[in-house]
This record gives sequence, C-alpha cells and structure tokens, in this order.
Amino acid sequence: MTPEEIKKLNNEFAKQSPDVVLRYFIKNYKNKICLSSSLGVEDQVLTQMIVSIDKSVNIFTLDTGRLFPETYNLIDKTNKKYNINIKIFFPDKERVEEMVNTKGINLFYENLENRKLCCYIRKIEPLKRAFSNHEVWICGLRSEQSVTRIANKMIEWDEQNNLIKINPLINWTESEMWNYIRKYDIPYNELHDKGFPSIGCQPCTRAVESGKEIRSGRWWWEKPENKECGLHNRPKK
Ligand code: ADX
Ligand code: SF4
Repeated sequence: MTPEEIKKLNNEFAKQSPDVVLRYFIKNYKNKICLSSSLGVEDQVLTQMIVSIDKSVNIFTLDTGRLFPETYNLIDKTNKKYNINIKIFFPDKERVEEMVNTKGINLFYENLENRKLCCYIRKIEPLKRAFSNHEVWICGLRSEQSVTRIANKMIEWDEQNNLIKINPLINWTESEMWNYIRKYDIPYNELHDKGFPSIGCQPCTRAVESGKEIRSGRWWWEKPENKECGLHNRPKK
C-alpha cells in the first residue's frame, strides 16, 4: 500500500471508534486479518470487540517461553470464555538453544545487544511466521503508553512485515479501557491488580509504583527511548 493510500485511510478512520475501524477491516480483509495478543489489557479489550464482530478472526500469541504463569492462565481463561482458540507461536528451538548456551540464560541483563537478540529470536522471528498469508495486523498500541508511541497512527504501513497495521485503541485512555473491561466483564491478567500496568516476559517486567509511567516496569534497566522489543518501530518523522 502506498503512503497516499495509508493517509487516505487515516483521514477516514483516525478519529473513528475502535469498533468502526475493526468492522471495516474485518469485512474487507476476511481471513487475511489477525490480532497479535500479548494478553495485556488492550488486547483483551480488542479480543472482546473482535469476537463480537467475527469469531473466526485469527488471534495469536507469541509464547516466548519466559511469560508469567498468570499470562498462561489467562490464555486458557480467554479461550474458554469466548469459545475460541488463541494460536500459540513458539520461537525456533535451535536458535534459542544456541543463544542461551553461548550467552547465558539471562543474557538480556548484560547489554542492549543481547536483549534485542533475545527479543528477536523469541518474538520477531515467530511473528514473521505468524503473519504468513495475512494482510492486516491488529494490535493494541496506545499513544499514551510511552514516548516511543506518541507518533503512532490509527493506520500504518508496516515495512518490516509488509502489511497494514491498525491500532484501534490508539486514542484510548487508560480509564476508557478499564471502564470497557468492567462493562463487559472481560477476563484480564491478575498482575494488573498487583502493580503491573504493562506485562511482557517475566524476567523483563516488574511492578511499578502507582502514577509512574505505564511502561516503566518493562526493561526497567534501559533508557525510555530503548524500551521497544522491535515488534513496533517508531514511525519515521
Ligand atoms: S511490546 O512490544 O513492548 O511487548 P506491548 O506489551 O506494549 O509491547 O504490546 C503492544 C502490542 O504488541 C500488543 O497489543 C500486541 O499486539 C503486541 N504484542 C506484544 N507482545 C506480544 C506477544 N507476546 N504476543 C503477541 N503479540 C504481542
Ligand atoms: Fe527475551 Fe526479555 Fe525480550 Fe522476553 S522481553 S524476549 S525475555 S529480552
């Protein structure tokens, strides 16, 4: 898709509700659209919205092998509640074995290069596989989440993966999300009630004091501008 076409879609959809955006893309890209879910609160909101539009939309998660037990429980709970089957993608076992055997099981604490390598092997490569035959990627980015996400748009072209990326919740606030969770009694990760506003892999996520930046507990030893795993690149100016 050309930048002009993306711009046109944004002119039409940038201010629309998530439901309107999802309905349009699900209708026009049936069987070619997917949600990548981390089981975080945004993705749980999106799952509820998607399932109420079309239960057959592909929802998948990247199981890095280092997730919290609470996240695994939530996969199960969500499948049961909606009668769906969130697809699981694992990293390539040989690449993981080589990485941890040469660089250590907790290599990510050593330096940024190791951390990015681990994210690449455990998330980015499986994500590429998960996208095969897809044209639209739904994800749960919100502008409010961090400095790295202020410039993200409702609709983007993802150059890395050659597909349209849509962020239906881009304009939503934290409280809008939680109101929605309560309204529809959506299951959510228990860790959100224990001080974890943003949840990724267990060794790279910690609780934050209330009022602190949402993603400050992710890769907490790194600078805020580095806190992306590579799934989401900062839009170019
Ligand atoms: S992350 O990229 O730094 O981990 P974050 O946890 O805020 O990002 O999630 C943003 C979006 O990335 C989610 O809404 C989801 O679409 C996608 N995502 C992140 N982690 C995963 C995962 N393990 N599996 C599938 N999608 C994920
Ligand atoms: Fe590895 Fe941490 Fe990235 Fe998970 S978040 S893939 S454990 S570096």
